[in-house]
Amino acid sequence: MAEVHYPNLIHRPEWTALADHRAKGPLHLRELFASDPGRAERYVVRVGDLHIDYSKQLITDETLALLQELAVATDVFGLRDAMFRGERINVTEDRAVLHTALRAPRDAVIEVDGENVVPKVHAALDKMSDFAQRVRSGAWTGHTGKRIRNVVNIGIGGSDLGPAMAYEALRSFADRDLTVRFVSNVDGADLHEATRDLDPAETLFIVASKTFTTIETITNATSARSWLLKAFEGDEKAVAKHFVALSTNSGKVTEFGIDPDNMFEFWDWVGGRYSYDSAIGLSLMIAIGPDRFREMLDGFHLVDEHFRTAPAEANAPLLLGLLGIWYGNFHDAQSHAVLPYSHYLSKFTAYLQQLDMESNGKSVDRQGRRVEWQTGPVVWGTPGTNGQHAYYQLIHQGTKLIPADFIGFARPVGELSPELAAQHDLLMANFFAQTQALAFGKSAEEVRAEGVPEEQVAHRTFHGDHPTTTILAAELTPSVLGQLIALYEHKVFVQGAVWDIDSFDQWGVELGKVLAKRVEPALTKGADVPGLDPSTTALVAAYRTLKNA
Ligand code: F6P
Repeated sequence: MAEVHYPNLIHRPEWTALADHRAKGPLHLRELFASDPGRAERYVVRVGDLHIDYSKQLITDETLALLQELAVATDVFGLRDAMFRGERINVTEDRAVLHTALRAPRDAVIEVDGENVVPKVHAALDKMSDFAQRVRSGAWTGHTGKRIRNVVNIGIGGSDLGPAMAYEALRSFADRDLTVRFVSNVDGADLHEATRDLDPAETLFIVASKTFTTIETITNATSARSWLLKAFEGDEKAVAKHFVALSTNSGKVTEFGIDPDNMFEFWDWVGGRYSYDSAIGLSLMIAIGPDRFREMLDGFHLVDEHFRTAPAEANAPLLLGLLGIWYGNFHDAQSHAVLPYSHYLSKFTAYLQQLDMESNGKSVDRQGRRVEWQTGPVVWGTPGTNGQHAYYQLIHQGTKLIPADFIGFARPVGELSPELAAQHDLLMANFFAQTQALAFGKSAEEVRAEGVPEEQVAHRTFHGDHPTTTILAAELTPSVLGQLIALYEHKVFVQGAVWDIDSFDQWGVELGKVLAKRVEPALTKGADVPGLDPSTTALVAAYRTLKNA
């Protein structure tokens, strides 16, 4: 990759031009639409099956042009091309970032250190497909010859959130005869609740861990093995039929006692939070079948190609990334809400939290210098209608600016009765009503015209002018899910590129891990922990008193 000279971001002319533009004070969305009704048609970008409307953003053509100039100045597309070429853009871990290779077609050529990785991606997919088919058809049986009816994925972070989110999202495409569960928390209650009603003879554990050293996962996997062996009176041979591993670390998998033949591999150029379209998606593939899984990969690939080739003005991930920068860096917005109007997307925002916050929760630039600008936002949200009766009040009338993405579908999926399917229009009426209310509000004059007593007018006035992006698709299919995830992956990429941070490491989670290992003996054995601070020492003492009371 060409060396890019990188002056301090906030002193770039493109940055100060945006700051000046912001200082001029934008018009209210009501005025923006009144003076330019055409923005409703113009501020739309279509990518595959996604209809993305950004007309309710606090922007004009000038804002967009200035944001695009910032993207050019910070060489977003240069870094993008380096990523697609397999260069080691994860500088602190000295790794390539090639989740896009996981969904590349069979005949693509993508090289890492001179090796085309596409054949091994497809070999791994073929191995997964074969195994998933055998489990689904009953050809793969448990130790006693019983059919597998339960699949329990044990993993955490990227080895849990992706498949758990996607399984939930695509539940209506899943084999309903299979029970699929996800265990992540080292709190024993998680594994207990996931297994208490299962027959070990019908249960397959998928141990998902890129490193195969993550303490939560290894602890849960060890307990799951004990649970299984208890049922089989300690017969270790049972493990081979009831445990498979998803990892990059075959040594550790073997050490754990899982046959390497039962390991599905991926590679160090796949980041954990970018991994559910790799072997990490095996539980999902078993649930929905290899064909649906490949449809999902095609959806990812479609957006990859869009991001790689679309011009700046029609490039959806670029646009969403720049809009986030507009609010986070020029409007002091601290958070970003993602509000899906689909019950099936109940885990979508939790998944995005890791994708976005683990990627862009950084405060030094790629050279290790402290940044003088805001980086990643707090990402939050839950399915929309539930949120309407909880926290939307604050978005509408609170003091904070909270940009939001609204995601909705024209048709429901699944085998809903006609009566339940008919509820979809009510769901979507709420969807459209909310973005309208957020943008246009209700003026004091409108409130007064309704005969509201003067002392109530301020309370019932909605200022409006709250920015939203509306993302619509016909249905939540596997392909559409892949498109949505790739859209957000690349949005996060764009922001990291502009902020000049390494979006692909996660050193911030390391310290807690190291300290937990150090503190544990104090909790279990009352051992002295050298170097423990006075506050934590006192808390540990209180814990032990409570524990032993
Ligand atoms: O939370 C830190 C982290 O390293 C994540 O990035 C990763 O997704 C998760 O732990 C799990 O890691 P592994 O797949 O190696 O068990």
